[in-house]
Amino acid sequence: MTDIIDGKIVAESVVETVRRATADLVASHGVQPGLAVVIVGEDPASQVYVSSKGKKAKECGFLSVQHTLPAETGEADLLKLIADLNADDTIHGILVQLPLPDHIDSGKVIQAIAPEKDVDGFSFVNVGKLGTGEMDSAFVPCTPAGSMLLIERVRGKDLSGLNAVVIGRSNIVGKPMANLLLAANCTVTVAHSRTRDLPALARTADILVAAVGRPEMIKGDWVKPGATVIDVGINRIPAPENGEGKTRLVGDVEFAGASEAAGAITPVPGGVGPMTIAMLMANTLVSASRAAG
Ligand code: GUN
Repeated sequence: MTDIIDGKIVAESVVETVRRATADLVASHGVQPGLAVVIVGEDPASQVYVSSKGKKAKECGFLSVQHTLPAETGEADLLKLIADLNADDTIHGILVQLPLPDHIDSGKVIQAIAPEKDVDGFSFVNVGKLGTGEMDSAFVPCTPAGSMLLIERVRGKDLSGLNAVVIGRSNIVGKPMANLLLAANCTVTVAHSRTRDLPALARTADILVAAVGRPEMIKGDWVKPGATVIDVGINRIPAPENGEGKTRLVGDVEFAGASEAAGAITPVPGGVGPMTIAMLMANTLVSASRAAG
């Protein structure tokens, strides 16, 4: 029987732990974790993500602040806001929702966030710590961190010697995911658009992570029998079967076929997605706890 990994349940247990630890931190040190989320422009998908982050932060007992800036905001104004948030003692986590409008240099903005408040884990300091195995003081990007938790739920904490294939080499998911699996002693291969014979490579994977952003690209016969499949993709595709103009969400993995071969697989929606927000809450709590000393 294939294990369909319920990310909602695991995420809820993470959030519950954060909620309790937050109450303890407030009681013991008088420090309430504060999360500032910054959004520039009106991308509808980004607005949905940002409002769920704010809602979840409140649910955890955090101070939740949202800065919504118009699409034409200049880079200097955004950098000034980040400098203010860096200096604000009530704020422990700063997240600038990506993508930013084209006229703003995202790299410059990300590097302007103080590393100790960079709960996305995108700054050079945190990327470097993850790459050199300084996990205890790093902020690990939320989606790979959440994926790792799901993998450990299925396979246990000892992943030593397993073959892991990560499809996708983004800075947000693919590369940090590969570093986490490497730190867990997996043999890791990162595949991408230039990889030769991707199906054959995928079939070597005990742990297969798909983070390419292409709907249902990874087919059932690419999956090694018994493999753990983590589908990071969230793609909206037309679903005329549900009525004219209707759409539905699918992952990067063709679920029906892959779930026949896999030992365990994350669904879309309800797999990795809820974990991303839960790990953001966990990172913000860690930041506040460090600040409390
Ligand atoms: N846009 C898509 N995913 C993310 C993420 O994890 N963090 C931020 N800041 N923006 C995103």
